[in-house]
Amino acid sequence: MSVEDQKRAAGEAAAALVQPGMVVGLGTGSTAAWFVRALAARKLDIVGVATSRSTAALAQELGIRIAELGETGPIDLTVDGADEIGPALSLIKGGGAALLREKLVWEASRRCVVIADAGKRV
Ligand code: A5P
Repeated sequence: MSVEDQKRAAGEAAAALVQPGMVVGLGTGSTAAWFVRALAARKLDIVGVATSRSTAALAQELGIRIAELGETGPIDLTVDGADEIGPALSLIKGGGAALLREKLVWEASRRCVVIADAGKRV
């Protein structure tokens, strides 16, 4: 499977975790973008909280309602990518220059799911 196919499959699997009515944290990067596309395709009644302007723009373009951090109750689920994943599931994040907002959204979330292609394992 190509790297892009892995990213798309991870995004689609994560989108299947989203239930109607959820507040969903939307990560940043090419893998998270696949999640946003798959989520939009499900046409659920959800609210997204984006971790970057680029993710907010993509989500809105695809019809996902966006709220600012703090405008909603707790975020039910956040899905984001990773730069590197270590053996004990330690993560390096922020390579897309969205680290602060990613951390804030992550901390406001009940559950976080990291999606990545196999090349991110180190
Ligand atoms: C954003 O700041 C980053 O942490 C990204 O989530 C990370 O770089 C993964 O990006 P790709 O999915 O594009 O590889």
